[in-house]
Amino acid sequence: MTGDRLARTPPMGWNSWNAHSCAVTEADVRAAADALVDTGLRDVGYEYVVVDDCWMAGETDDAGRLRADPDAFPSGMAALADYVHDRGLKFGIYSSAGSHTCQGYPATLGRERRHAEQFADWGVDYLKYDNCGDHRGRDAVDRYGAMGEALRAVDRDIVYSICEWGESAPWAWGRNVGGQLWRVTDDAVAKWTTGDEFGLGIADIVDRVAELDIAAAQAPGGWNDPDMLQVGNGPESGQSRHEPTDIERPLSPVENRTHFAFWCLLGAPLMVGTDLTDARGDVLDLLTNEHLVAIDQDPLGLQGTPDRREPTREVWSKRLRDGAAVALWNRGEAPADIRVHVDETSVPTAGDRYAVLDCWTGERWESLGELSATVEPRGTAVFRVTPGDYSAASSTS
Ligand code: GAL
Repeated sequence: MTGDRLARTPPMGWNSWNAHSCAVTEADVRAAADALVDTGLRDVGYEYVVVDDCWMAGETDDAGRLRADPDAFPSGMAALADYVHDRGLKFGIYSSAGSHTCQGYPATLGRERRHAEQFADWGVDYLKYDNCGDHRGRDAVDRYGAMGEALRAVDRDIVYSICEWGESAPWAWGRNVGGQLWRVTDDAVAKWTTGDEFGLGIADIVDRVAELDIAAAQAPGGWNDPDMLQVGNGPESGQSRHEPTDIERPLSPVENRTHFAFWCLLGAPLMVGTDLTDARGDVLDLLTNEHLVAIDQDPLGLQGTPDRREPTREVWSKRLRDGAAVALWNRGEAPADIRVHVDETSVPTAGDRYAVLDCWTGERWESLGELSATVEPRGTAVFRVTPGDYSAASSTS
């Protein structure tokens, strides 16, 4: 079906990879669906429950169709989709635009129609489509285009998540092949920075997004995807155990906050990657911060961009329907005073006074344009700034 109505705001949900890696089972996915309901995450907008790699059996059937792994997913994918739908959520699945998935399971290249039909029959609402396996000499636009066409031909709305790691600039063609989101970097890992290891840390991804300078590619229905959330994760999470990266400790509370704040400021897809059956209260409070989620889901759909980058102090902002979000990031190891005037940011500067909302505390005040905060090491102050006086803006967001 035509995807024009899909993902008008960045998709939100949960994906199995960062939490469970290749050990995922249908019980884990059901538990995640239940947890999205019980924790209140569904009610703030997290709606897709996506099973990543390793759900399939080692062999296809004789017609080349994918089969669920009989041990890990004994009830089958249609039953799992029903379970997810019964909880008011949507169901997502994974395959790859190659002969095999990244973990060596059968994948979709050359069988796009058949698999799209299977997915539609099962009740799939979202497809994450990876870039592993033999490409048989076909370039990314050709391979991802074939699946986009197959998804358009089935009688079901399926969000198409292109996971090509930003290798051949998917922001330039992702929308044209029917994609609603496209990964722009390598995999995120649960670490602040990584160096030469596998994957990118949280600060590395923000740097990469700044370098790429691809904000113009993003608009409702088509999203730059800096990868799934590692909020709440550390050495014990599935992906951390699976990948070769050395992860010594969990992301700290302040690192989690900066990570989530930046994904919201970027207007990124928000795919939770932690085990929600075991998440700490501060992690759940962060993921359900209504002020930040509102910035992520702003209807203009713009990507935040840097206004000022210094070695330890950065200012980023994102234009919103009624103003802008402004983030003051302290990259250093000591508390820092960071100040900026709205003139230097994306805040529309028609008026002479601004209502300011602190997205962490919910406090509101009025400013003549100056914004400042003492920011803890690795922390980020986030303000929602609305032209006009405080009383005019206090009823919104
Ligand atoms: C990677 C992908 C990850 C995850 C993994 C599964 O290519 O970027 O997000 O899906 O494969 O094997």
